[in-house]
Amino acid sequence: MKQLSFLKMDEPKITTDTQEWGTFKDSLRAPIHNWFTYPAGFSYKAVESSIQTHGIKEGQIIYDPFMGSGTTNLVAKKLAISSYGVEAHPFVFRIAKTKMNWTISNNAIHRALRVVESNIKAQQHSLSQTQVSEFLATEFPELILKCYEHNTLLDLWCIRNAITNSDLPTEIKDFFFVGLTSVLRQVATAATGWPYIAPNKQKVSSLNKNAFVEFTQQIHTMLIDVQETIQETHPNYLKHSHQLFNGDSRYTEHLIPSLCVDHVFTSPPYLNNFDYADRTRLELYFWGEAKNWGDISEQIRTKLITSATTQILRTDAKYNLADDLQTNCPYVFDFLQKSISELSAIRGTRGGKKSYDYLVSGYFNDMFKIISEVYRVLKHNTKAIFVLGDSAPYGIHIPTDELIGKIGLGIGFSDYRIDILRARGGKWKANPQRHNVELRESIVTLTKT
Ligand SMILES: C[S@@+](CC[C@H](N)C(=O)[O-])C[C@H]1O[C@@H](n2cnc3c(N)ncnc32)[C@H](O)[C@@H]1O
Repeated sequence: MKQLSFLKMDEPKITTDTQEWGTFKDSLRAPIHNWFTYPAGFSYKAVESSIQTHGIKEGQIIYDPFMGSGTTNLVAKKLAISSYGVEAHPFVFRIAKTKMNWTISNNAIHRALRVVESNIKAQQHSLSQTQVSEFLATEFPELILKCYEHNTLLDLWCIRNAITNSDLPTEIKDFFFVGLTSVLRQVATAATGWPYIAPNKQKVSSLNKNAFVEFTQQIHTMLIDVQETIQETHPNYLKHSHQLFNGDSRYTEHLIPSLCVDHVFTSPPYLNNFDYADRTRLELYFWGEAKNWGDISEQIRTKLITSATTQILRTDAKYNLADDLQTNCPYVFDFLQKSISELSAIRGTRGGKKSYDYLVSGYFNDMFKIISEVYRVLKHNTKAIFVLGDSAPYGIHIPTDELIGKIGLGIGFSDYRIDILRARGGKWKANPQRHNVELRESIVTLTKT
């Protein structure tokens, strides 16, 4: 590992058996957690372990400022621990909110399914294949048309409309929204992995799948998941509340009081140029919530912390490193200034001219604000845990874990500790176009005394 010459490194501690904690693999096998495959998510086991290690008990409060699909909050609910969660992406927020609602009634869902089914029948027309193609082309962007067989897409369209145009209660619409969303990639005939969709690669296993059958099966599975989860849940879970906000964790004064949180467990976007807004492009286009890149930028990219160059407008002054960072964390400021100058110089020599310089400054300006807010809401004698990864844009290593630890000290935390979960980025080693800096995924623990 390339060592930092600029910052004084504390010796990081290597943990064991935690290789997958920063990934969604465990959660993909867990009921409710797996209702939406959110590859940006982490393992529910990491949250359980933190709660146990730090002795968080029934009735205490845990907070996740990057709630995502709600992993931290779900684990908390099962253990009768109260929670706060803030998520800026409206679509992902709706998924998390639905996963946390277990008061959904089996009978109401079955009745609603019948309503949806009869609405679908009322919408089905006897159209020729040409008419179907023409009709779908007026309803959906090209990306969606390329991902589905036309009859499947027509069925999906009917189910979507039957849900959105019904006068069913919001919580049932949300339940169906998550159910239909989770079958969207299963019935697509195009490869739809993370982070990109490959409309030209065919997935034979999805040919001739019946969208309504898949949808109803998913709804039944979700109902069973809720019943089984309740049986395995702490009996006092209903006594404790969960306040989830579709908001911005840089600004939480109006949402979360000071000195009320017992533990923070979270994973910010990594500084690795993944575009979270783009990850949900298929879903946003399907639900008609966005029609093009511009819509996604306006509705989502601008609301998230800076973590992808696709969010950056070079004329925006917010990419100067913040004065607060300079005043409170001078070492971090100087280190970042030096890295940013190097990145600006390299940018001038590269064809793609990626704004990695502003990506780094924007990211740490935003993280400074969020860690300050985390510090404000935490009680004394508590810990904040950040699962995160470092990066090496244009081969310049940015040791995010060290920098976040040091920012924590500048804000007022008394101590930080780094545990390395795993090495990352090995798959690029054979590619001469990519850097060969060894990267890592770590847990940074900040202590507030
Ligand atoms: C690494 S993901 C967290 C995933 C989560 N741990 C889970 O298991 O689903 C980071 C999340 O932070 C969200 N995010 C980005 N900027 C935010 C902001 N300013 N306020 C709140 N959430 C934000 C992103 O939309 C993304 O869902």
